Amino acid sequence: MAFPDNFLWGGATAANQCEGAYNEGNKGDCISDHLTGGSLTVKRQFTDKIDSEKSYPSHEAIDFYHHYKEDISLFAQMGMKAYRMSIAWTRIFPNGDEESPNEEGLNFYDAIFDECAKYGIEPVVTLMHFDMPFHLFKTYGGFQNRKVIDYFVHFAKTVFERYKGKVHYWLTFNEINFACIPMGSLELLGIYDERTTDYTKPYDVPQKRYQALHHVFLASARVVKIGHEIDPNNQIGCMISHVTQYPLTSHPEDMLYVQQQNQQFNDFAADVQIRGEYPYYMNRFFEDNEIHVKWEIGDEQTLKEGCVDYYSFSYYMTNCQSIIKSNEEHSAGNLLEGISNPYLEVSEWGWQIDPIGLRYTLNKIYDRYGLPIMIVENGLGANDVVNDDGTIDDDYRITYLKAHIEQMHEAIKDGVNLIGYTMWTPIDIISSSTGEMKKRYGLIYVDKKDDGTGTLKRMPKKSYYWYKKVIESNGEIL
Ligand code: BG6
Repeated sequence: MAFPDNFLWGGATAANQCEGAYNEGNKGDCISDHLTGGSLTVKRQFTDKIDSEKSYPSHEAIDFYHHYKEDISLFAQMGMKAYRMSIAWTRIFPNGDEESPNEEGLNFYDAIFDECAKYGIEPVVTLMHFDMPFHLFKTYGGFQNRKVIDYFVHFAKTVFERYKGKVHYWLTFNEINFACIPMGSLELLGIYDERTTDYTKPYDVPQKRYQALHHVFLASARVVKIGHEIDPNNQIGCMISHVTQYPLTSHPEDMLYVQQQNQQFNDFAADVQIRGEYPYYMNRFFEDNEIHVKWEIGDEQTLKEGCVDYYSFSYYMTNCQSIIKSNEEHSAGNLLEGISNPYLEVSEWGWQIDPIGLRYTLNKIYDRYGLPIMIVENGLGANDVVNDDGTIDDDYRITYLKAHIEQMHEAIKDGVNLIGYTMWTPIDIISSSTGEMKKRYGLIYVDKKDDGTGTLKRMPKKSYYWYKKVIESNGEIL
């Protein structure tokens, strides 16, 4: 086994799931600060006001805000070469529409990047990971409003200038294609229809959703252009939730259906961000669904001038789809649900585990775009148990990661230009879909329970020592 010498082995987190300190350092509220805790069976709720009777996991999370030195030191001891993280927009612009940034927020990320530099860890920074300023959502209607493009660009420009030379790898929007399904309305676009009772199944107006997504594409493209102007060394990528869809049957109807599903969910956003124009197949989709995206003069050029440098994606699972056998058993999933694949095992949270699908997906992406690829999320959510002596034997996580890394290596041998892997997550953080601590992805355990109790003590799991060896041997010892 050998990976390229400069391969970026690492781990990934998101600000709203790890930082906590949600109202410290002049930070403003973001959308995820208004999401309550939930579980596999109890859905998270989105509340307009912070309700003192309810619990909001992002408010403390694992308190990375006050533990970052200890955490980054643990990452360094594990040998991490890259740390994917996100900047909380509301630490820099608490409301989102201010002219001047909040110095305390900027200082916080300076300290993080300096800490990373101390250990030779390369930051990979996501500009927006499900945390739009609440004020922009309330006052402007999120990305439905073109003004919000300017506010996002102002935020991005501010951090590009401030962290010039400290950060070289950037991602604009986490899982931008989340907006291609109704569930992404709130967290990605900042759209919430009053008629919605469950934010994961929102009252959906596709016309508004695709218009807002158009604005997000423009925001991303403008930011890519500015990022290159500020520092030509900046590498700016797209970030897609790539959930490869398989046909459940070989019926031609299913083949066609799956092709369309893959185009609309997995390919559309990346096609725009990489090729700088809308793909042909969306014309038919818009026509059939009576969606009329309004373009303004200059939009075409903006998209063309803001093409990304590399492709990044999250990969947890694959799904089956069928219209011939649409009543087959359904599987849960990361953003996109589908039909169960009889050949795959599932995680405790019902996500189908498919390492070979990762090789398939990597080849598909590389064939389509020919750009360098980074896997920026991949991991297993599990309910870990702490032994009496404080150790955590998470062999199942090692099995999961090992199987995926093996397939990454196969893909590299196939000729795919894979430049990095930031697994999800180096340390336990709160789950995005359920708001739980119990759904742990970390290589480092954090002593915190769903009821908010715990010492926040950090304890490396068995997988921590395993991953350390993987990195040390550049993927030779798995
Ligand atoms: C991705 C998100 O969709 O999946 C992360 O980018 C999220 O924020 C991850 O945490 C895993 O999902 P979950 O719901 O198990 O935390």
